[in-house]
Amino acid sequence: MQPEESLIVSADGSHTLRSQHFDATYHSKHGAISESRHIFIGAGLDYLSHSKEAGPVTIFEMGFGTGLNALLTAQWSQSYNRMVRYTTIEAYPLNTEITNQLNYGQILKDDNLFSKIHSSPWGEWNELLPSFSMKKIKGKIEDLSITDRYDVIYYDAFGPGAQPLLWEQPVLQKIYDMTADGGVLTSFCVQGTFRRTLMAVGYQVEKLPGPPGKREITRAKKP
Ligand SMILES: C[S@@+](CC[C@H](N)C(=O)[O-])C[C@H]1O[C@@H](n2cnc3c(N)ncnc32)[C@H](O)[C@@H]1O
Repeated sequence: MQPEESLIVSADGSHTLRSQHFDATYHSKHGAISESRHIFIGAGLDYLSHSKEAGPVTIFEMGFGTGLNALLTAQWSQSYNRMVRYTTIEAYPLNTEITNQLNYGQILKDDNLFSKIHSSPWGEWNELLPSFSMKKIKGKIEDLSITDRYDVIYYDAFGPGAQPLLWEQPVLQKIYDMTADGGVLTSFCVQGTFRRTLMAVGYQVEKLPGPPGKREITRAKKP
């Protein structure tokens, strides 16, 4: 039987996966780590952390996937000694056979932290580092009912071609409601309809320069 996901080496040497089911890759083939750093850490977390001086930074990630964004964020919290509370949702968790092969722990020199991210139980808060706590939710974003508010949203679904529903108003309205005042959402997607929908639900939207292989990305701010 064909495996559901296959391993690819992206241009910066870091792995990504191709999902046969969604006919999409989990990251850019031009560099998985470079892309995640640029879009989610640089344009999202770094940016927000400059405007929020006190208290923990709260993050919601749409699509836990390989755990790469979680690892980069945990390392960020450690290097800046800044408290992060990280909530992530995943409808189709990857099995350990595939996550054990991913080279993020080796490249980012933290195999132990990467393993902890994957082995931490679903559905509860886990303190993985003094500066980093994480809750992994197993389920679909469409079914999520949550009253918490987040400073940063990593909007990392498969693209609109693969999963149109996740880029339409009902889901994005929910995401907007989950964003704290002054909070930001970042995404690799710059499609016109996506940006117009973000504006329709209330965000202020800007385009920023993208990582290698991608001209632009989107950052949306809740006023
Ligand atoms: C682009 S990948 C995420 C990459 C991930 N952030 C990473 O660092 O590896 C999109 C993820 O969304 C998940 N997903 C797809 N549909 C979903 C849904 N309806 N609700 C929650 N997660 C979903 C996929 O299984 C996949 O793991």
